[in-house]
Amino acid sequence: MDEEYDVIVLGTGLKECILSGLLSVDRLKVLHMDRNDYYGGESSSLNLIQLWKRFRDSDKPPSSLGPSRDYNVDMIPKFMMANGTLVRTLIHTDVTKYLSFKAVDGSYVFNKGKVHKVPANDMEALKSPLMGLFEKRRARKFFIYVQNYNESDPKTHEGLNLTRVTMKELISKYGLDDNTVDFIGHALALHRDDRYLNEPALDTVKRMKLYAESLLRFQGGSPYIYPLYGLGELPQAFARLSAVYGGTYMLNKPECKVEFDSEGKACGVTSEGETARCKKVVCDPSYLPNKVQKVGKVARAIAIMSHPIPNTNESHSVQVILPQKQLGRKSDMYLFCCSYSHNVAPKGKYIAFVLTEAETDKPEVELKPGIDLLGPIDEIFFETYDRYEPSNDPSVDNCFISTSYDPTTHFESTVMDVLTMYTAITGKTLDLSVDLSAASAAEE
Ligand SMILES: *[C@@H]1O[C@H](CO)[C@@H](O)[C@H](O)[C@H]1NC(C)=O
Ligand SMILES: *[C@@H]1O[C@H](CO)[C@@H](O)[C@H](O)[C@H]1NC(C)=O
Ligand SMILES: *[C@@H]1O[C@H](CO)[C@@H](O)[C@H](O)[C@H]1NC(C)=O
Repeated sequence: MDEEYDVIVLGTGLKECILSGLLSVDRLKVLHMDRNDYYGGESSSLNLIQLWKRFRDSDKPPSSLGPSRDYNVDMIPKFMMANGTLVRTLIHTDVTKYLSFKAVDGSYVFNKGKVHKVPANDMEALKSPLMGLFEKRRARKFFIYVQNYNESDPKTHEGLNLTRVTMKELISKYGLDDNTVDFIGHALALHRDDRYLNEPALDTVKRMKLYAESLLRFQGGSPYIYPLYGLGELPQAFARLSAVYGGTYMLNKPECKVEFDSEGKACGVTSEGETARCKKVVCDPSYLPNKVQKVGKVARAIAIMSHPIPNTNESHSVQVILPQKQLGRKSDMYLFCCSYSHNVAPKGKYIAFVLTEAETDKPEVELKPGIDLLGPIDEIFFETYDRYEPSNDPSVDNCFISTSYDPTTHFESTVMDVLTMYTAITGKTLDLSVDLSAASAAEE
């Protein structure tokens, strides 16, 4: 280990693997290490026996659940927006060639005690039972404004400068009621709280357009896609990419201690008495616990079921967003379901997740509104995990630390963290203006 690496990446979570792939493509000399003997870290994918070991202290799951190896249960379950930043990153790096994707069947929102399909355009708004007759017409006008809006064509702006007009002001121009604003903000624009209402409307309008445009990519019922065999395929696909560009991967390396020089800058990583030297360290929060702070906690439930989530039109794969206001909470709740049709469970079985930012220490109680929507379950596991953010200054110590995974069941916030880190590490912005239509590999 005499040579010096540009970057040593610690942990093979999805964020770290995307980064080492991108940095390798940039021709940086990358060494990627993990203390575990498997890929994925917190975002790993478990089979049935591994689930039983983790939650039931046993390696004998009931045989009625089918073969263990047919399960690929992602610990951080997230769908990808078909035209979103992660898919753009996959196309940009050509990682799509290692993966097969399938459209997600449904995108739903919880409103006044019921589950409804998320209306994404003017036609769907007119049909949606989410709104009364007059509200439908107002919403239709608003959807048409958003569909036609083109940042570089002022004729479509109707005299509004969306970098100055707040979302609240834009909404009041169309007279939309709070109930409509709730599903637009949380289920279409995917905001996690209501701060966006007082921010410039442009960001939310762009998010709504992304949703509608992603929906058009497939004739399916949602704007989302998901890899066959689950997300566990993703870290390994980026590892292969990194290897193609000369990156080195080492699993099962105990300790992985980051070394610092006299100025407090990271300069290497030691494992089993050997030190590899480097200019920068990239890692997940668990590798540098003294340089992160706890910022929250995620509560999650994992359920194995023998049927789809009720009231989702028999969707084998589906996301249901339960906006905070509908539950009287401070944070949204997310439902995620996937089945054997994405090869994550044996025939006849469905895997559902219920997730939220924890506000108490009782996940069983806190997640009940989401669990009540699942119908009968075969098995259920509960868990909480702490969320950390870096508290260091990378310009001082050369350590670039990712943020723990949030409870959302889509990738938008996760990829933004990766791209922000990429820019901090390289000083460059990744050009993701790829030709999405060329991405036949990302389609079925
Ligand atoms: C947006 O407006 C610009 C400038 O008028 C035009 O070149 C571009 O094609 C428009 N984009 C769309 C999607 O209509
Ligand atoms: C909108 O406002 C921003 C910031 O005040 C300004 O830079 C931009 O030129 C304005 N755009 C138009 C089309 O007036
Ligand atoms: C339910 O799903 C079927 C396809 O499986 C689709 O044709 C139909 O439009 C869907 N219904 C609703 C209300 O989304």
